[in-house]
Order: sequence, then C-alpha cells, then structure tokens
Amino acid sequence: MNRPRQYENCAMKFSFHTEEIGKLQAGLLGLLCFEEGIGEGALFRAVDGALDGLLGKLVAEEQFKGKKGQTLSLHTHGRLGVQRVLLVGGGQRKDFNAGDLRGFGSRVVKAGAAVQAKVVAAALPYGEAQERHAQFLAEGAIGGAYRFDKYLTGDRKKPEVVEELRIAVSADNVEASRLDAVKRGVQRGERVAQAVMMARDLVNEPAGDLTPTKMAEIATKLAKQHGLEIKVLGPKECKQKGMGMYLAVAQGSDEEPRFIHLTYRPKGKQNGPKKKIALIGKGVTFDSGGLSLKPSNAMEDMKVDMSGAAAVIGAIGVLADLNVPYEVHAIAACTENMPSGKSYKLGDVLRSMAGKTVEINNTDAEGRLTLGDAITYANQEIKPDEIFDFATLTGACMVALGPTTAGVMGNDLSLIERWLQAARLAGEDMWHLPLPPALRDQLKSEVADMRNTGDRYGGALTAGLFLKEFVGDTAWVHCDIAGPASLDKSYEHLPKGGTGFAVATIVEYLVGREA
Ligand code: BES
Ligand code: MN
Ligand code: ZN
Repeated sequence: MNRPRQYENCAMKFSFHTEEIGKLQAGLLGLLCFEEGIGEGALFRAVDGALDGLLGKLVAEEQFKGKKGQTLSLHTHGRLGVQRVLLVGGGQRKDFNAGDLRGFGSRVVKAGAAVQAKVVAAALPYGEAQERHAQFLAEGAIGGAYRFDKYLTGDRKKPEVVEELRIAVSADNVEASRLDAVKRGVQRGERVAQAVMMARDLVNEPAGDLTPTKMAEIATKLAKQHGLEIKVLGPKECKQKGMGMYLAVAQGSDEEPRFIHLTYRPKGKQNGPKKKIALIGKGVTFDSGGLSLKPSNAMEDMKVDMSGAAAVIGAIGVLADLNVPYEVHAIAACTENMPSGKSYKLGDVLRSMAGKTVEINNTDAEGRLTLGDAITYANQEIKPDEIFDFATLTGACMVALGPTTAGVMGNDLSLIERWLQAARLAGEDMWHLPLPPALRDQLKSEVADMRNTGDRYGGALTAGLFLKEFVGDTAWVHCDIAGPASLDKSYEHLPKGGTGFAVATIVEYLVGREA
C-alpha cells in the first residue's frame, strides 16, 4: 500500500499500552538506557526476566554502556510479545534533555523500518515531564519516518513501513493523570511534527517547482484548511507600498514575486488587547546571487533559501489547533534572485519602504533587502509587539557556529532570553550573537543612507545590523538559520536536507505550557 506522505498527512498512528511488557505485541521495542544504572529500570528487568537473563548477559558481553548513540539489538524468538528489543544509549542522565527523545523516537522508527516492522513500540523514561517526553517521542517518530521521495520512481519509491508506534507507559506505576499527560504530549507532538514536515517538504522541493507563485498557492490552501486570513501581494501592490528593496531583488527574474501575509486570530472570548506577534521568514525560492553570481557549488543548494518562509508558514498552520492566545502574523516576501538583463545592479541605489536609501555593493546580499521591507511592512501595517525573523541569511553564520546551530541577534535582551529559553525547551540549538555598534560603520555609503554589505569578518553581524535599521523601536529577534535549515548529513533526529528548523521553537514560544 502506497499511502501519500505529503505534509497534509501524518500517517503514523500512536497507541498507549499499560499492559505487562511481556504481553505487548510489536515488531520491535525500543528501550532507552542511561549510562548509570543500566538494567535497573523496571521495564529492562521485566524484559530481561522474560528472556531468562539473556538481555543482561548480552549487555555485559557486547560492552553496551548506554553511551549516547550506542545501540544493541536482539531477537526474542517468541519469548516476548515483541519480536526484537533495541537498547538505545541515552548517555549520562545529567546531560540528557527532553529534546534527545526525538533522537530516540526517530531511531526506533528507522530500526523498525529496517526490519520491515509495521508496528513498533517504545518505552518512555521514568520521571518528570512525561508530557514533554511523550511530545518529543512522537515528534521524533514522525520525523524518523520522513522521506522526501515524491520525485523517485520504481523501487526507490518505497511505501512507508512503520504504521504504528505503541507507547509503553510504565507497568508498575500507572496513574490516570500520567497517562493523560502522555496522551496530551503525543497529541501536541503530532501537531508540531505536522508543521515541521510541511516545512521540510517546502525546503526540499526544487526551486523549479516551488516558485514564489507556488508558495502563495500553498499558503492560500493552508489558510483555508486552518481558518487563517491571507493576503497575497503581487508586484503592483508591492510597488504601491514602496517596497523598493524587495522589488529590486525580484526584478531580475522571469518569475513574479509574491508577498505572503497570513494572520491567525485567536477565537472565542479574549479579555483585553492581545499581544501581536509578527513572524517574518526569508522567502528567496532560489538564490543564484544575481549579478554577483555564486559559483556553481555554492549555488547548488540554494533552493533552501526560503527555509525561513517555510518555518513561519508551517508554524502558523498549527496555532489554531493549539489554541494560541496571541494574534500571530506570518510574512514572507517571496522572490527569486536571478541574473538577467533586468537584474538590479551593483552601484544601484534603492529606496526602501521605510524611506531609507541603500547602495548595492553585492547583489548576493539579497535576503536582508527583502527582509528589510518585510519588517517595515510589519511595523506599518500590523504594529506588532514583537518581531521575529528567520532567514538563511549568511554563510558567515555557519562559519561562526557550524551547521547545526542558529545565530540569534536582536535589540531586546529580555526577549532574546525568552526566545532562547523556548529554543532550549524545544531542543533546538541556538546561540546569542552580538550586534556590535562598531561594525555599523561598515555599512556607510558615500551616495546613499547605507550600503547592503560590510566586510568579510563578522558577516552575520553586519547582516543583523542592516536589518536593525528597519526595526525601529519594536522588540525584535533575528534568527540566522543558514546552517541548520538544511544539512549535508543527518545529525541525531535532524535529517539530511530540509530540517524544518525553528518550527518547534516558534510553537514552544507561542504555546508554552504549565510546569
Ligand atoms: N542565501 C545566502 C546565505 C546562505 C549561504 C544560506 C549558505 C545557506 C547556505 C545569502 O543570500 C548570501 O548569499 N549571503 C552572502 C552575503 C555576502 C554577499 C555578504 C554570503 O553569505 O556569502
Ligand atoms: Mn545571496
Ligand atoms: Zn540568499
């Protein structure tokens, strides 16, 4: 059976099991083991008992220490309801955070798929934060089953294998409240995963297919499905609004730009004015560099340059389901950046929507131009309390922080701290970078109010300083996701290719939770 696996569907089914572990039926059971006290958990002991101590013996013989990433699997030959047991190392308990459960969930599903198991099972670790643990387990399981195979044909387009994850909830100490927390967590995890998978699909889609027009079509469909308001501006409307920087980037392409603005308004009785939040995503569907053309190898992956847009569009889709109490806007100024006889040129002076003029000294620094006008649009038309922008903005940010960590800048320390706290809880790697006033001089121009790029060193920071010029007094956080938005190889739960990075933190920031 070849079920559709596009983001409209999260095909994985979840069920909850409190029966004795020996009775649980599944092709594979995943057990998480920490370095301290392997073999002491009730589930481990139950499984080991049913196997006459075989599991314990194997752990000793195979030197399974529970180190992070270490695994050990064995076949049960009918002595348990589960056909296989997979021990997954969790490292030391003190270093373990809830986000690591995504890695566990994804590993269990991948191991299940490798042995053609339709049903797999996993046990949650004991202790606090059951809801959060269950959420991340579900996110990891769905993420682990993710594949971008819509362009594969024949044998390589394999149907999804794992259809169900059975969650074993501690056999010895089941309280109804604990089971409820686990169910709530899984439900939220499914929603977050749906948004993350949508973002991955958008990032992975080739630029030849995912044009700005197509992005707007997808956003329109999403708005219908989730009851969001949507405005899509074409080049004429953008010109009327004076978005000279955004339109300059777009003018070199045969594809028309589309400025997408989605709005979520909380339903029901809300007392008093609601906080307004603008989420802005860089939506360059292909970045060739323009006339400052990128070399082929640097251009190869530039379909991912709309990852910020993918994150904010994906995230806003689930807010209604999660009863978010704020008014949230998702904005993406979508365009290609192409070289042609119509391209914007080096030395051009552009007039931004904010009125500031900008001299172009590199057409490959296009993201900040599109974002600058999008930020001004947000300030003028929405007047948000907080602006967050997400952008695959600079290679320099990857040089600074590596491929898996996003750089976070902004103008409000307390907002940055709250944002980073959400990232920690969501298990996404983000790091605060400065916006040194000293570097602002690099953006000085002789002929315009400023120019669009500075020197090579500190390139992530001058990009941030450029955006800051358009933010005004609004509290603002800038998130450079050039590294983690798409990966050359998989890291833990993050797959190769589009990752859907930032969606989980956006949802965490907006939804929060008790305890
Ligand atoms: N989209 C790129 C940044 C990027 C690089 C994203 C690698 C993902 C992976 C951006 O538009 C860009 O070209 N930035 C330039 C800025 C420079 C011209 C100041 C860069 O990083 O080289
Ligand atoms: Mn560029
Ligand atoms: Zn770019």
